[in-house]
Amino acid sequence: MIKLEDILNKITDLKTIEEKLAYIDLNVEGKIVFSTSFGFEDQVISHAIFSQKLQNIETFTLDTGRVFPETYTTWNKTELKYQQKIKPYYPPTTELENFIEENGINPFYDSVELRKQCCFIRKVIPLNRALEGASVWITGLRAEQSNNRNDMHEIEWDESKKLFKFNPLINFTKEDCFAYLKENRVPYNPLHDKGFISIGCAPCTRAIQEGEDFRAGRWWWEDETKKECGLHAK
Ligand code: ADX
Ligand code: SF4
Repeated sequence: MIKLEDILNKITDLKTIEEKLAYIDLNVEGKIVFSTSFGFEDQVISHAIFSQKLQNIETFTLDTGRVFPETYTTWNKTELKYQQKIKPYYPPTTELENFIEENGINPFYDSVELRKQCCFIRKVIPLNRALEGASVWITGLRAEQSNNRNDMHEIEWDESKKLFKFNPLINFTKEDCFAYLKENRVPYNPLHDKGFISIGCAPCTRAIQEGEDFRAGRWWWEDETKKECGLHAK
């Protein structure tokens, strides 16, 4: 049997994102998942998967309960356009109820620790359920997004999650992504046209100014080095 690592290594020889995703869909035997937050990067990947009707890749989203109304609209438009279902994962009810009862509804502004606890309950626990049994996890990570991310690779072994991550857009620029979306008439989050680049939960995301880092609008009140929520912590 050909090893999964050898299969994945072949991906770098393929040119387009469509070819790469179709290759994975056809050749990987284990569970393949793609996580979408409906940001512009994820919309590129969704188009490449859905327009080819790749059936072995399960697309899921982590609905934290605190995302923007525009994000729900983008989710809905995407399902309608491609006639494909996206699997939602929700935070564990009892943990969330206890956390909010104890700390209030917006505790993330009070300390990095509480912010990370909120991300843990609303994103990391559901992510771990979504990744259960998966051998490949497809993400919309791009090197250009931040200093933390510019040494990431197209294919990476994630030791903490014990699976391969495939980041097909790792070398795409923001302009490459928007050119793709426009060319293929892919719906995207209207907040991107209002200065929002990296979009997460509503209380933790703001628009950025010209010249600011792409992720400057995420947890903007925190120190630059702490701005990961545990999904992609190395
Ligand atoms: S985060 O770690 O800061 O939240 P970011 O918003 O940059 O991540 O998104 C990077 C990738 O993580 C996305 O392309 C997507 O694959 C995944 N991701 C982030 N947020 C979610 C979410 N709510 N649901 C599913 N996937 C997500
Ligand atoms: Fe909670 Fe903000 Fe993290 Fe969303 S981004 S899970 S609201 S701390």
